[in-house]
Amino acid sequence: MKNNNLEHFYKINRQDKHVLNGHLSKVIWFTGLSGSGKSTVSDRVQQILHESGVHTYILDGDKIRTGINKGLGFSEADRAENLRRVAEIAKLMVDAGMVVLAAFISPMKKDRLMIRDIIGEEDFIEVFVNTSLEICEERDIKGLYRKARNGEISEFTGITSPYENPENPDVELKDGNSIEESVSLVVEYLKGKI
Ligand code: PPS
Repeated sequence: MKNNNLEHFYKINRQDKHVLNGHLSKVIWFTGLSGSGKSTVSDRVQQILHESGVHTYILDGDKIRTGINKGLGFSEADRAENLRRVAEIAKLMVDAGMVVLAAFISPMKKDRLMIRDIIGEEDFIEVFVNTSLEICEERDIKGLYRKARNGEISEFTGITSPYENPENPDVELKDGNSIEESVSLVVEYLKGKI
């Protein structure tokens, strides 16, 4: 197993932060199509954790792609670089004692393996927001599916760019679940882990 202790000689280490915070640190990584509900579920999970005294932070495309990853697009290489940087940021935040909720499409198996490898198996929880393309497209909250179908956006996940389903996620949220059911599944899974 990979050694994720980034602190070599500092007097205060990650364990000291866990003691101070009263909880462990982890990355909860939400993967799924655009419009699948990653942001909605992670937002609500964060609220529940926060109200129970857990130090949390949400990383998502809106925050990251307008700032540190401005300039990266949606080619396979740019997505991989986007996700690599997010994983490195999340790893630092875990070392700082936080519970990080990361909501990214993260469509490719190889990139999710890279993320898991950067963060470390023991700190990584994968949540597959398995909402079908049909439903995401029907919702079309941002109007992006319509644009993708009209050819106004290229390399759009699920339409002109692939999404490879996770085979063995820690938690899988299905179409039929209500938001509250999905949130409960994640919160239940976290019990005893943070
Ligand atoms: S990835 O694949 O993990 O690097 O993508 P991510 O950083 O999560 O960014 C996804 C959001 O960017 C918007 N968007 C697109 N998504 C997919 N494909 C294309 N071509 C694209 N262009 C813009 C879209 O709003 C995604 O947001 P969510 O919240 O997932 O709907």
